[in-house]
Amino acid sequence: MRALTQDRYGWDALAVREVPDPVPAEGQVLVQVHAAGVNPYDWHYAAGQPLIARPTLGGLRGPRPTVRGADLSGVVVEAGPGVTAFGPGDEVYGFGTSGTFAELALADAGSISRKPVDLAHVEAAAMPMAAVTALQFLRAAELTAGQNIAITGAGGGIGHFAVQIAAAWGANVTGVCGPRNAAMVRELGASEVVDYTQDDVTAGEPRFDVVLTNAGRYPLRALGRVLVPGGLLLANDGSREGLLGPMPELVVAPLLSRLRPYRIVNVTATPSGEDLAVLDGMVADGVLLPIVSATYPLERAVDAVRQVAGHGHARGKLVVTLR
Ligand SMILES: NC(=O)c1ccc[n+]([C@@H]2O[C@H](COP(=O)([O-])OP(=O)(O)OC[C@H]3O[C@@H](n4cnc5c(N)ncnc54)[C@H](OP(=O)(O)O)[C@@H]3O)[C@@H](O)[C@H]2O)c1
Repeated sequence: MRALTQDRYGWDALAVREVPDPVPAEGQVLVQVHAAGVNPYDWHYAAGQPLIARPTLGGLRGPRPTVRGADLSGVVVEAGPGVTAFGPGDEVYGFGTSGTFAELALADAGSISRKPVDLAHVEAAAMPMAAVTALQFLRAAELTAGQNIAITGAGGGIGHFAVQIAAAWGANVTGVCGPRNAAMVRELGASEVVDYTQDDVTAGEPRFDVVLTNAGRYPLRALGRVLVPGGLLLANDGSREGLLGPMPELVVAPLLSRLRPYRIVNVTATPSGEDLAVLDGMVADGVLLPIVSATYPLERAVDAVRQVAGHGHARGKLVVTLR
């Protein structure tokens, strides 16, 4: 099969190559990939950023798996031993384990779900990592109707799903984004939009119960100042590079938050077929819709990953098409 692979870190190591077809192990399915969503996650693995994360990205020399891509939507071609929930011909979407910028990919049966019937593969492929991350963060916040939430990076992958989910749950959403995404973010359910080129969301009185920061590299202390006492700061901006990247903010800040009048929480999103089914229900109810701003053939998948590298400005989601 053809796949976007690399045997060491770095953009110049990435190329579309012919590699052996993967074989499903116990609990896995083999999926013919129709489309694969693009995430900053792919940049972390491609570039080996931040450096301190390399042991968890696969090793000091290069990433594991060697094929890039984490999200998929496609058709099951083979179920491995022990898999009863899915069989050949089933249309599924979810998280791959062997790399999904590939004609075939493996997925754990517990990390996929039936593809939403109202969505094409390109749209379904846009959802897994970004929408599940948004859902798991907002669930951790125990967000309730009537609360005020600010979401930075509201025009991006996680942000545009978080705006929709928070609005569906009855929260008052302030979306922080660039000017070209303002109308989209408002249409998705934000009652207020802050254009970060004109206004600073960290200025003004404490007014938010929850802040979800996906982008912008705002100092957490500055975001904390606009939280009401007892408020919750969901720290999810992983865009910094270098040796430590976002680690000091994402790991140390939650520990220090005991000294502050608000809590800081970071969630590591977990692949979950059950959460994909929850999102499928929201799509069916008409309250959640993925926005795909561009598609790329496999040969140009690297260009797509570059768009979400570091301080990216992707609008909604980018998707690699395989069929
Ligand atoms: N916790 C986890 O398990 C987990 C899982 C996945 C991803 N992440 C992290 O989540 C972050 C967001 O991921 P994503 O998929 O949503 O990224 P993305 O699709 O690349 O979106 C980033 C968005 O940020 C916007 N942006 C850039 N500068 C901004 C600023 N100053 N203020 C407000 N918005 C700004 C960009 O749009 P405009 O500037 O054009 O408006 C872009 O739409 C990444 O850092 C990633 O590493 C965490």
